[in-house]
Amino acid sequence: MKYSAPRGTQDILPADSAAWQALEAASRAVFERYGYREIRTPIFEQKELFLRSVGEQTDIVQKEMYTFTDRKAREFALRPEGTASVIRAYIENRLWTERPLQKLYYLGPMFRYDRPQKGRYRQFHQIGCEAVGSLNPLVDAEVIALMGDILRAAGVSRLSLHLNSLGDAETRAAYGEVLRGYFGARREELCSDCQARLELNPLRVLDCKVESCQKLSAGIPPIEDSLSPDSRAHYEAVQRWLTVLGVDFVKDPRLVRGLDYYTRTAFEYHHGELGSSVALGGGGRYDRLIAECGGPDTPSIGFSLGEERVLLAAAQDSQLAAQAAAEARTPGFYLVYLGDTLLEPAVRLARQLRNSVRVELDPEPRSLKAQMRQADNLKLSHALILGESEQAAGRIVVKDLAGGTQVTLEQSALTADPLGALAGPGRDG
Ligand code: HAM
Repeated sequence: MKYSAPRGTQDILPADSAAWQALEAASRAVFERYGYREIRTPIFEQKELFLRSVGEQTDIVQKEMYTFTDRKAREFALRPEGTASVIRAYIENRLWTERPLQKLYYLGPMFRYDRPQKGRYRQFHQIGCEAVGSLNPLVDAEVIALMGDILRAAGVSRLSLHLNSLGDAETRAAYGEVLRGYFGARREELCSDCQARLELNPLRVLDCKVESCQKLSAGIPPIEDSLSPDSRAHYEAVQRWLTVLGVDFVKDPRLVRGLDYYTRTAFEYHHGELGSSVALGGGGRYDRLIAECGGPDTPSIGFSLGEERVLLAAAQDSQLAAQAAAEARTPGFYLVYLGDTLLEPAVRLARQLRNSVRVELDPEPRSLKAQMRQADNLKLSHALILGESEQAAGRIVVKDLAGGTQVTLEQSALTADPLGALAGPGRDG
């Protein structure tokens, strides 16, 4: 029997994990500079939580959740996203009593039964944050700027930020009427899903991927025209603050997002490599969600980005890949010895060095080339090269495998300070 990873999942092998670690470390550093602290929640929750928060009419809830029943017939779902869990934890642990504005970040696997393709998986990984407890538009702009900072720190350079406002309940009701009026007699031409959406959740029609629906909806008046005065003022203030923060954006009146909890600000970062229907990440405000889930009335905003997608984009923009390749070498020596007779002194030297650093050596004497290849395969930072003449003089060559430079050291100097030899080019002795 042959086993394989479930469709839509992937192994992150050691050769790739350095890039993942670099992305996660860069994200944590940016979050911490903005005063966010990490929160970790379970990867499964009561199914009902997602129905309530993400929305019963969304594709995520209708088609994409991994649900299961436990031994006591309770219904759970693997989390399809992080916001619902963070909000559940916020309410359950009464986090508002600790501080009025909670700035929380998280990272980890999420699960959606999606159709696997480039940048779309069934287990994927998000890095996200939630600023819980403020309606101030400056918070929106800072969250958006923070997300851009992470993407740039990850090495993604060709970014475009799409911005929209979905307004409040008043706006939604008014815009629903606009949409129903717009489709009027032509509603029969919409796909059957959209005909139902038009009644239950008209904004979703804008998000439909069916070509005939997209064509029909091309001339829809923008939601901005239906914004309530409060929502309009908020949207304008977010744009002003983004300008103050030096964040470029394009207004995108068709941006509605795939989850139902959004109010007012909605945004996505896009990258040319992934195409326009696949965002690197996105987010928005959800001012009603906490109250709807049984907590106090608490306006909030957040975003998540997809790690797989960011790594694809960064590889394309190549900086992260190059950086990770350099960082992927682990500090340590591959001890190359040239000929049988040097095995014994090499073993003695390795034993001394291993008191403080990693040393690898091949018990079978092989050619210089074969040993150097092995050093490279093991991704060690340095090689030590011991030939007859070095051994006779009590010396050894230290080669920096990332930079390519080399120095010759006294063996006694190397054993006295092996970490020094790993840290720098050293003195030529
Ligand atoms: P979302 O737009 O559903 O938002 O997902 C955010 C990001 O997760 C996407 O832009 C994408 O990069 C990644 N993603 C989603 N599905 C997949 C998939 N099947 N394969 C690979 N990557 C995927 C949310 O999840 C919201 N919780 C964001 C948020 C936080 N809003 C407010 N706070």
